[in-house]
Amino acid sequence: MQTQLPAPPTQCPPFGMMMQYITGYWVSQAVYTLTKLGVPEALKNGPADAESLAQTLTVNVDFLYRLLRATSAMGLLEAHDNGQFSLSSLGQLLRANVPNSMQAIVLMMGEEHLTAWNRLLDGVQTGQTPFEMEFGTHCFDYFEKNQRAGEIFNAAMTSFVENEVSQIAAAFDFGQFEQLVDVGGGHGRLVASILKQNPQLTGVVFDLPHVVNGAAAIFEQEGVANRAKAEGGDFFQAVPANADGYIMSHIIHDWSDNKSLEILKNIHKVMRPNGKLLLAETVILPGPNAINSTLMDLNMLVMTPGGRERTRTEYEALLSQAGFSLVNITPVSPMVSIIEAVPAAL
Ligand SMILES: C[S@@+](CC[C@H](N)C(=O)[O-])C[C@H]1O[C@@H](n2cnc3c(N)ncnc32)[C@H](O)[C@@H]1O
Repeated sequence: MQTQLPAPPTQCPPFGMMMQYITGYWVSQAVYTLTKLGVPEALKNGPADAESLAQTLTVNVDFLYRLLRATSAMGLLEAHDNGQFSLSSLGQLLRANVPNSMQAIVLMMGEEHLTAWNRLLDGVQTGQTPFEMEFGTHCFDYFEKNQRAGEIFNAAMTSFVENEVSQIAAAFDFGQFEQLVDVGGGHGRLVASILKQNPQLTGVVFDLPHVVNGAAAIFEQEGVANRAKAEGGDFFQAVPANADGYIMSHIIHDWSDNKSLEILKNIHKVMRPNGKLLLAETVILPGPNAINSTLMDLNMLVMTPGGRERTRTEYEALLSQAGFSLVNITPVSPMVSIIEAVPAAL
């Protein structure tokens, strides 16, 4: 999962900087409420004033007006002199079915994620996973059993991939592979893009059965259906065998070292001896971007038992225990690096 959080407001005096941290949820709740109410969709055909929007959405007009005014100040809407509001180019990202839509990410972060984040204090006090304290189950089981939340989660994952897919596809020479398996590849967006750019390549997206069902439409849409297939299964049991390229994008960060080793060893067992394993992950690096990677690490703490972002040294050690040598790390964006590993020489 890629995200780039705003740089810390270093230009502010300390009081202002601290206020930005303290009230961060004002901003995220305003974005969530605007989106959940359907304001971005209601404005897709042109400007409207608060009264007509309130009628369309059946909400309180005064409260809606104040939400529109605040989100205009945030740059999501444009407020016009005649009292109407329209979507800004930034606000367009809150619509569904537009290029680079972030609607599913807003909904995901504002619902179960937020509820779980509210238990961060309990989590740090007890060492228990906030999501599980709140919902009583692992987040992947929850998203499987709660269809609507699962759809939003999978769509949000696809949006994250959309944002980084071209950078990943450009940062590595996938032309060296014959077959690429994307383990935990969701709806197949990443593998579809890589296949599109590498006509010699065949590909498999492997994920839980209820998730990979969504891949066929993306393979068709990207014109790679004749070279791509979707396979459902459990990566703790086995993964598709005999490929020379395996990629996992934001998978290892979901799991503890022990669970990660199970997945990595399952890949090691079945990959061609000359194969490569690529991990697209947020690597915790020192420097100004540490705020992004370390907050994402907290998100993993909140959502998953044992999931975490790792440093280069931690990845080296983990891969080595699974029989791999880490050969290279290529930063792709402020939040994502490609970690390249090969089976270790005996
Ligand atoms: C954080 S998402 C990453 C999805 C995608 N690779 C990306 O970069 O957006 C983790 C993925 O792991 C899948 N997953 C979780 N448990 C799994 C299992 N036991 N076997 C196969 N896939 C699993 C989830 O369904 C989900 O698609």
